[in-house]
Amino acid sequence: MSDEKIHLKVTGDGSHTLFVPELNENYHSWHGAYTESVHVFIETGLKIAAEKFKPVHIFEVGFGTGLNAILSYEFARKTAHAVTYTGIEKNPLNMDLVAQLNYRDHWKDENLDEVFMQMHSKKWDEEWNAAPFFRFKKLNGSVLDYIFPTAEYHVIFFDAFAPEKQPEMWTVELFSKLYASLQPGGMLVTYCAKGQFKRDLRSAGFEVETLPGPPGKREMVRGTKR
Ligand SMILES: C[S@@+](CC[C@H](N)C(=O)[O-])C[C@H]1O[C@@H](n2cnc3c(N)ncnc32)[C@H](O)[C@@H]1O
Repeated sequence: MSDEKIHLKVTGDGSHTLFVPELNENYHSWHGAYTESVHVFIETGLKIAAEKFKPVHIFEVGFGTGLNAILSYEFARKTAHAVTYTGIEKNPLNMDLVAQLNYRDHWKDENLDEVFMQMHSKKWDEEWNAAPFFRFKKLNGSVLDYIFPTAEYHVIFFDAFAPEKQPEMWTVELFSKLYASLQPGGMLVTYCAKGQFKRDLRSAGFEVETLPGPPGKREMVRGTKR
């Protein structure tokens, strides 16, 4: 095991990701963290869910840097489409590291800086009405222990580390719980498009689509609850 700490890296589009020496794994795609989040989670997930549901209830596996949460906030503000966001995180980041993330260089609205830092400084497990169009809650714990509500969420951002790094997160058992937590017509999106993962997602009941991935990644997956 490495003694090195989690540290910042610059990805292909200039935005930061975090490198975890212990896993030899990044939080995001090398080709562009910001671009990947927009493509996989916002454009292919939240935007499609918003065509069917209002408000949209998001559940994220792995709050991490909060990039998907702040991009969801931006989407809700821009479109005036109400969103509630719940993210779960097992290993919260320290604030010194969060403060160094350069995502503010990528968004146009300075207002987002404050909301982003507030998302990180807010207490865990408490709901925060960030704006009339955005309710936010982050849970501190493992998704593997989480007691899911039934038929609650409309879109799940499944942003765990890769299956070969964290196999315990890519199981039919967890996908079945996620499936039960979705409303009919709700969906799960992720950057992974491995064959075994898609078979497991189908076993859990999802209708699986393989879709174009972000730059540098050929494919991504969206699973929908019929
Ligand atoms: C690939 S990173 C993505 C994080 C985040 N979505 C982002 O964009 O920064 C995976 C995240 O899942 C978290 N994680 C790992 N195991 C977990 C578990 N069992 N329950 C909840 N979160 C977990 C990690 O700490 C990390 O923050």
